[in-house]
Amino acid sequence: ISQIGDFPLHLKQNMKQMIIAIDGHSSTGKSTFAKAIARALDYTYLDSGALYRAVTLYALEEGLTDAQGKPDADRLVERLEDITLSFCRNPKTGNDETYLNGKNVEQRIRSLEVSRNVSPVSGIPGVRDFVDNELRKWAGKKGVVIDGRDIGTAVFPQAEVKIFMTAPAPVRARRRLEEMKAKGEEATFEEVLENVLRRDHLDSSREVHPLTKAPDAVLLDNGNMTVAQQMEWFKKLLEDKWDIRLK
Ligand code: DC
Repeated sequence: ISQIGDFPLHLKQNMKQMIIAIDGHSSTGKSTFAKAIARALDYTYLDSGALYRAVTLYALEEGLTDAQGKPDADRLVERLEDITLSFCRNPKTGNDETYLNGKNVEQRIRSLEVSRNVSPVSGIPGVRDFVDNELRKWAGKKGVVIDGRDIGTAVFPQAEVKIFMTAPAPVRARRRLEEMKAKGEEATFEEVLENVLRRDHLDSSREVHPLTKAPDAVLLDNGNMTVAQQMEWFKKLLEDKWDIRLK
């Protein structure tokens, strides 16, 4: 198996600047895979979930939620014009981090509090329009990999490459539990599995742009795959679909 990022230079230079949409269930490793593709092709990576998380953080900090964290949709939508979002590369890690009104919020948007409250915020139509516009603005010059839930169905239905990622729920719960342990957060497997299933339900049953596989998306079940194997799969996809041959 070849290493990630070993696409030959002539291919990188000649490759059409595509939009690559990666949608799928939560905790399937979409962002890891999307980042690996972006690195390999020298594309820009855009994390749409980070934008929903940043809007959620704003709502929590500005008191636009009730005591249970439920957002006041009308007030939040009115205040969206006060929000400026951006990604900026951290030279130490090489990763793009999320900024909200000029402040780095990368850590805070991954907190449990934001994770718990992001679903209802992402269900507000005005918030979805706001995030979609940001993504379309940034993807203007193409050569982007974007991960999310509705990228290939609603935001960029014209994307050249659409991948829909999934894996069995217990596999995803185990992965999520490992991530949480690494961060020092405690939970049982049953709790995490329940959360994974609840998020699947919320994402797929939402009224606006629910999670669903675009008819022209290619399914990737990575339950038994390493990231390197997923990259091999991606290279084969390029070869089969676009006749782009890699060494
Ligand atoms: O991928 P994530 O866990 O960072 O996403 C955070 C939340 O945002 C999650 O509840 C799903 C939602 N989301 C969405 O509705 N549409 C997207 N394109 C991306 C994320």
